[in-house]
Amino acid sequence: MDTRDDIDTQRVELGARGYDILIGEDLLAAAGTYIRPLVAQPRVAVVTDTNVAQRWLPALEKALGQANIVHDTIVLPAGEHTKDLAHLEDLTNRLLDARIERATALIALGGGVVGDITGFAAAILLRGLDFVHIPTTLLAQVDSSVGGKTGINTRHGKNLIGAFHQPRLVLADVGTLETLDQRHFLAGYAETVKYGLLGDPQFFAWLETKGADLCAGDRQARRHAVRASCAAKAAIVADDERESGRRQLLNLGHTFGHALEAQTGFSDALLHGEAVAIGMVLAFDLSVRLGLCPPGDARRARRHLAERGLPVSLTGLAGPDWTADGLFSHMLHDKKARGGRPTLVLARGIGQAFTTSEVEAESVRTVLDDALKG
Ligand code: GLY
Repeated sequence: MDTRDDIDTQRVELGARGYDILIGEDLLAAAGTYIRPLVAQPRVAVVTDTNVAQRWLPALEKALGQANIVHDTIVLPAGEHTKDLAHLEDLTNRLLDARIERATALIALGGGVVGDITGFAAAILLRGLDFVHIPTTLLAQVDSSVGGKTGINTRHGKNLIGAFHQPRLVLADVGTLETLDQRHFLAGYAETVKYGLLGDPQFFAWLETKGADLCAGDRQARRHAVRASCAAKAAIVADDERESGRRQLLNLGHTFGHALEAQTGFSDALLHGEAVAIGMVLAFDLSVRLGLCPPGDARRARRHLAERGLPVSLTGLAGPDWTADGLFSHMLHDKKARGGRPTLVLARGIGQAFTTSEVEAESVRTVLDDALKG
């Protein structure tokens, strides 16, 4: 799509619903140029949150103005609690108050929460609007903005109301990662490592070499990592958009991670990416216990995550009320559980993940028990 040689374009091949992910620097400042040819009318509604609005909204508004695109802006409260029915109702009503039409595209400017709720609003408003993602966190750039999963949380669990609704465009401006605090950056880094661990040993080896620079701010390294992650995700989504097979591999670390998030009440005590980091370590531990994976590969995965500063054990997290049974029952509440067994992503080695629902509960409980003992 773009001819600037400092921009990488990754196509998500989904036929008529296919779209480009543009990855590079200063994309926000030129956002109007990229958006204008894709929207049916020169009018959009921008949805963002209080934190992102302060830092990045002015640049987007200026860019839209320069491309003669008029816009409304809706600023949501920052935080995971915004991804609920009450905020969805408020958001959709405010968009209808602004008299959006079917040809009005929504623009999600922010991280996973803004992207998920805005994408879902776009899926259901007026029976479907176009939308564009401008992800401003590493997690959103490497994962949640790609692939069309949209939705909100309910009291029964995360993302239980939602729809597959693909964006028209993703603009991943790596410059916006500059203002991300280190903890949230690292949480996104865990999802980046996931692509290496699940299917790309060369990328994992590259992260082992370059991960320190990347986390310290090296923009070339960041761009390469976002590009490699988006390429991996785009290939998987093109193959299995609705997660009936291969896309499940993207859940490496997520079933264990979900149990840890549920146990911590989906609070800031454990960010999603931190839970995924520990979850990936537990998935490798279980793979070793089942005789599927060389212990050295599990040690490598753990060492890399720990060296970068991610949590890899339950030390300092587990309270006295945490039990293997309690965590296992959270795993069964994961929406991917089948017939009383969790669906797990395990690994035969680094870059060799596979899914299974065949693992005996006892093996999973033993791994959880060992993790709780430290
Ligand atoms: N975050 C996992 C997926 O998009 O399938």
